[in-house]
Amino acid sequence: MARAAPPAGLRPFLPADAPALATIFRESVETLAADDYDEDQRAAWAAAADDEAAFAQKLAGALTIIASLDGEIAGFASLRDGTLLDMLYVHPRAARRGVGSALIDALEKLARGRGAREISVDASDAARDFFAARGYIPHQRNLRELRGEWLGATTMKKTLDEKAQQR
Ligand SMILES: CC(C)(COP(=O)(O)OP(=O)(O)OC[C@H]1O[C@@H](n2cnc3c(N)ncnc32)[C@H](O)[C@@H]1OP(=O)(O)O)[C@@H](O)C(=O)NCCC(=O)NCCS
Repeated sequence: MARAAPPAGLRPFLPADAPALATIFRESVETLAADDYDEDQRAAWAAAADDEAAFAQKLAGALTIIASLDGEIAGFASLRDGTLLDMLYVHPRAARRGVGSALIDALEKLARGRGAREISVDASDAARDFFAARGYIPHQRNLRELRGEWLGATTMKKTLDEKAQQR
C-alpha cells in the first residue's frame, strides 16, 4: 500500500499540548492495543491520563517530542533519564503512516547526541513487533499492575550505532 508523505513536522512538547496528547494517549490505547489487551486492561492503562496535571508533568519531566501529520498532532514520544523510551503513542487515525518511526528515529538521534549507548523500552504487546522491526531485542517479560489489572510488557533494548551518531 502506498505510504503517505512523512510527518510534516517534529517539535518539542509545550505545556499547552497536554490535553491533545491525553486524547491521543487514550484513543491510541483504546484502539491500537485492542488486539492485545482486554477492555478492563485498556481502561486501566488509559486512566493514566485522567489526572491531566500529573500527565502533563510527566511529559514535561521527560524529553517529549510531538509529530504532526496533515496539520494535526498525530503522535508523541518521550525519553526519560536519557536512555528510557517512556511513551510512544500514535493516534489511530494516523497509524501505519510512519509517525511512530519518525518519533523513535528522532528520539534515538537525540539520545545518541546526549551520549547514550543504549536505549530501552518496556514495550506493550501491541508495540512489540514495531520495536522488533526497528532492532530492539527482547530481554525480559514483565507484568505491571494498574488499577487492579495486570498488563504484560517486554523490556526491549537497542544498542545505538556509533557510526550513525556521526551522520
Ligand atoms: C506502536 C505504534 C507507536 C506504531 O506507530 P505507527 O505510526 O503506526 O508506526 P509506523 O507507521 O511508523 O510503522 C512502521 C513499521 O512498524 C511495524 N509496525 C507498526 N505497527 C505495527 C503493529 N501494530 N504490528 C506489527 N508491526 C507494526 C511495521 O513494520 C510498520 O511498517 P508498515 O506499516 O510498512 O508495515 C502505534 O501502533 C501505537 O501507538 N500503539 C499503541 C500504543 C502503544 O502500545 N505504544 C507503545 C507503548 S511502549
